[in-house]
Amino acid sequence: MSFDLFATSSDNGVTKTQLADQAWHLPNFIQNRDNLLKALLNELIQLAPLRKMKTPSGKLMSVNMTCCGDVGWVSDALGYRYQGTDPLSNLSWPVMPDLFNALAKEAAAAAGFENFEPDSCLINYYSVGARLSMHQDKDEADFSQPIVSVSLGLPATFLFAGLQRNSAQTRIALHHGDVVVWGGASRLAYHGVLPVENGMHDLFGSQRINLTFRKAC
Ligand code: SIN
Ligand code: FE2
Repeated sequence: MSFDLFATSSDNGVTKTQLADQAWHLPNFIQNRDNLLKALLNELIQLAPLRKMKTPSGKLMSVNMTCCGDVGWVSDALGYRYQGTDPLSNLSWPVMPDLFNALAKEAAAAAGFENFEPDSCLINYYSVGARLSMHQDKDEADFSQPIVSVSLGLPATFLFAGLQRNSAQTRIALHHGDVVVWGGASRLAYHGVLPVENGMHDLFGSQRINLTFRKAC
């Protein structure tokens, strides 16, 4: 292996731990931008309310979701896809705030992915007990761009595996402000989130929020 798995390094003030080839955990990457993110999220969820989507097989997901950006990820009986409008309102998704875009680009660059241009942000609200089963992010048109995932509020255990559903899993404790970036050789890695445990966060209360930035189109 040509990389130093789980080694933590610091570079230009950014601490990062390698999870796999081209996959990095950046603890507290967002630093003091959490209040601004919270204010922006509150605006976004007014424009495009949180909702629980159904999987194509009809199962209600436990995470409350919405999107911003040029396109948003949706799931329903027709399948998983990206589309330019919110199916609840038929309006365009809210514009991605500049801070979201800047943060995603900065985190991608810190993980070695220059020129990331996210066109979509999936906003996931996890109440206590909500989880996300193991999956690959593979509804995007271009796998050359990474995934940037920002965690806020309550902590959670993130499961990161290899390219097969049954690959060995790494468990990563994600805390408020952490970012995970995966791309290149790890772009199609399986990942998931264990049920969020009961707790109370100063800024976000008893929930975990995850922002997933992608170049979808
Ligand atoms: C996702 O895979 O879409 C979200 C991951 C997370 O909530 O950390
Ligand atoms: Fe995902």
